Amino acid sequence: MKEEKLIQPVEVKIVEKRSILFVASEANPFVGTGGLADVIGSLPKALAKNKDLDIRVVLPLYSDIDGAYRANFRFEGNFNVPLGWRNQYCGLFSLKYEGVTFYFVDNEYYFKRKGLYGYYDDGERFAFFSKAALEMLSYLDYYPDVLHAHDWQTALSVIYLKVLFADRYGYSKIKALFTIHNIEYQGKYGHELLGDLFGLPDYAKNILDYDGCINLMKGAIQLAERFSTVSPRYASEIKNPYFAHGLEYMTSQNEYKLCGILNGIDEKTYDPSTDDKLFARYDAKDMSGKAVCKAELQKMLALPERAEVPVIAIISRLVGHKGLDLIKCVFEDILNEDVQVVILGKGEREYEDYFRFMAERYSGKCRAIIAYNKDLACKIYSGSDIFLMPSKQEPCGLSQMIACRYGSVPVVRETGGLADSITPFNDENRKGGNGFTFANYNAHEMLYVLKDAIYTFGDKKVWEKLVSRAMKTDFSWKKSAEEYKKLYSDMCSAL
Ligand code: GLC
Repeated sequence: MKEEKLIQPVEVKIVEKRSILFVASEANPFVGTGGLADVIGSLPKALAKNKDLDIRVVLPLYSDIDGAYRANFRFEGNFNVPLGWRNQYCGLFSLKYEGVTFYFVDNEYYFKRKGLYGYYDDGERFAFFSKAALEMLSYLDYYPDVLHAHDWQTALSVIYLKVLFADRYGYSKIKALFTIHNIEYQGKYGHELLGDLFGLPDYAKNILDYDGCINLMKGAIQLAERFSTVSPRYASEIKNPYFAHGLEYMTSQNEYKLCGILNGIDEKTYDPSTDDKLFARYDAKDMSGKAVCKAELQKMLALPERAEVPVIAIISRLVGHKGLDLIKCVFEDILNEDVQVVILGKGEREYEDYFRFMAERYSGKCRAIIAYNKDLACKIYSGSDIFLMPSKQEPCGLSQMIACRYGSVPVVRETGGLADSITPFNDENRKGGNGFTFANYNAHEMLYVLKDAIYTFGDKKVWEKLVSRAMKTDFSWKKSAEEYKKLYSDMCSAL
């Protein structure tokens, strides 16, 4: 009898990768002006560790992007981007970097300029970028499951996707997630720009209209399947007029699709045991390097080299919502203590001038460096003992997390991400926590808590434990990246 050959069926599992495209206006290490760049530089990388996720990011190709990165770019091609009556050139480059594919949108008319923002035609520049990010998809024949846009600069990518591209092949299934990093900047324009500049049909006016003008953030909130903020506390705060900068009706009405996910930081970048920008390396087990960092910082800034005096650091954009008015109100009281204060940052003239003036007046104990300087920032985080961040509003805030990593104990106001990341040592038990917190936007409440930190610094045993807890707090992306993954998957499985 003929033997029957049995063919065993082989089970082939096809694991389809879920694909996410980040659309953003800045990302470290390529180009950045603040916290958004940190997030776009680190969250995609953390997500890309999941084998079942395909993570890509698209950015404008600003002239500030270093030649060293450009040298490794791959030219993907070029196409035209229609924008109102315009038809603009768009070159497309790509770079695989730390597991993530980055695309760079090239147009020298829009992006061959110094800096990132602040031009009269920013609306047009980011409209072009948002449109190009979508045109790019059919050019590459790559249609992500989720388009994840960030802040007002890329709100139009969500609006275009839903208004202009919804019927085009490949685009109809793409879900949109819009993340608000700061609700203060919404992208507001006159109605006359709807068709002429943004190239949107008349019926889109209803979607974008808010408070007598076109509001791009409002449009994205309305049209995205989901929207999010960078901390749970801020997600609940932006329903409140005090925080919402006029958008409270929108955020409340769309509450059902809102969630808050706390940012993490890249723990490899911000690690005092490996950071070669520091004067010395250290970790929670061996803190001798931190003493060197402090002494060297004092020397560099020509401050008296005293280990026993607490160094208070303020590293911040010098703008109103960072709570600088509280500091101004009681700054002399702070400086009358036996402390040293170091300020690093730039921003509004009023604050720059004020801190310069005070640094001259209190030249034996105060220094103000009016600049944005990442290397110096790390030296100050590591050389300081207390980190003051009394923000009026803070969607997430990364500096308080970085300060913890470098053993500089944060003193923060309980708002947004500050409330979600810093737990108070100054509660009734005085045993746990990773910092000092106060609730009200009140200068003397801040002063009271800051003085508590200054005096606690004098109690070496208690202080060392507090510093160690701060340094060991888990600020990695692990948990939050999981939350994003779940959010993407919920969005994709929803009808
Ligand atoms: C914005 C917010 C800041 C947040 C950052 C990253 O800069 O003001 O609080 O940490 O975005 O999400």
